[in-house]
Amino acid sequence: MIYLNGEFIPIEQARIPVLDRGFIFGDGVYEVIPVYSRHPFRLSEHLRRLRGSLDGIRLGNPHDDAEWTRLVRRLIKLNEPDDQSLYLQVTRGVAKRDHAFPKGVAPTVFMMSNELSRPPMEQIQNGVGAITAADNRWLRCDIKSIALLPNVLLRQEAVDAGCVEAVLLREGIMTEGSASNIFVVNDGVLLAPPKNNLMLPGITYDVVLELAQANGIKHQVRPVAESELRGADEAWLTSSTKEVLAIVRLDGKAVGKGIPGPLFRRMYALYQDYKERVMRAPEV
Ligand SMILES: Cc1ncc(COP(=O)(O)O)c(C=O)c1O
Repeated sequence: MIYLNGEFIPIEQARIPVLDRGFIFGDGVYEVIPVYSRHPFRLSEHLRRLRGSLDGIRLGNPHDDAEWTRLVRRLIKLNEPDDQSLYLQVTRGVAKRDHAFPKGVAPTVFMMSNELSRPPMEQIQNGVGAITAADNRWLRCDIKSIALLPNVLLRQEAVDAGCVEAVLLREGIMTEGSASNIFVVNDGVLLAPPKNNLMLPGITYDVVLELAQANGIKHQVRPVAESELRGADEAWLTSSTKEVLAIVRLDGKAVGKGIPGPLFRRMYALYQDYKERVMRAPEV
């Protein structure tokens, strides 16, 4: 079952007018929320980021957090798998095609659930390959916009090279991945790019930094230079669905020893443990 504009219906019955501004302009924002054992992971943080994205595109929030929470819980209940990946999208609604905002138009609200597929064990144990690419996106990458064409093209470049991610560089500084945040480890220190308009403020990124803080892992939040990425002992990617994965090859060259490093293995275990605790918590 999916949710569309006030109704829970089978996806086959869902219809969107072709003049929806999401379809015409990519004029909308979205969230992806993992659900473990029917618990939405970090729901209030996802809803806070959604508010930020809506503010960023000057679109009113169609629901308050209590209503979003009610809708999310209902969607989880109506779908079979215990572990789900919820996709939630709000667009500026349906109107005659004109770039300027339409007046008095209701936003389109859509949510769907898919089974959450965890990264294959092979990727967790052996790490993944990545390429680097020039970050040719706009200057509001902090907005989780549905207009993802640059990210789509960048990710495809990685896939064409037999890799899982493109690590993006802007003027000699690492920003993020095409669909993930990137961390590096140098001399035992975890380096994370600071949140700004050039990257998405990842929910997983926050969890990783909180776990580093809570467990005495040395870390710095500061701009990471391309040279630091290329000379890194370890590099990781993080996202809600990929969790934490080690990047072991970058542009065909080994990162560190070319296998997931000791700090990755530690963070991976901490992340799994944290998830377990959240999953055992009483339902929100
Ligand atoms: C461009 C980009 N950066 C970062 C992330 C990671 O964000 P999160 O950890 O909230 O999934 C994503 C998630 O898909 C993304 O698309």
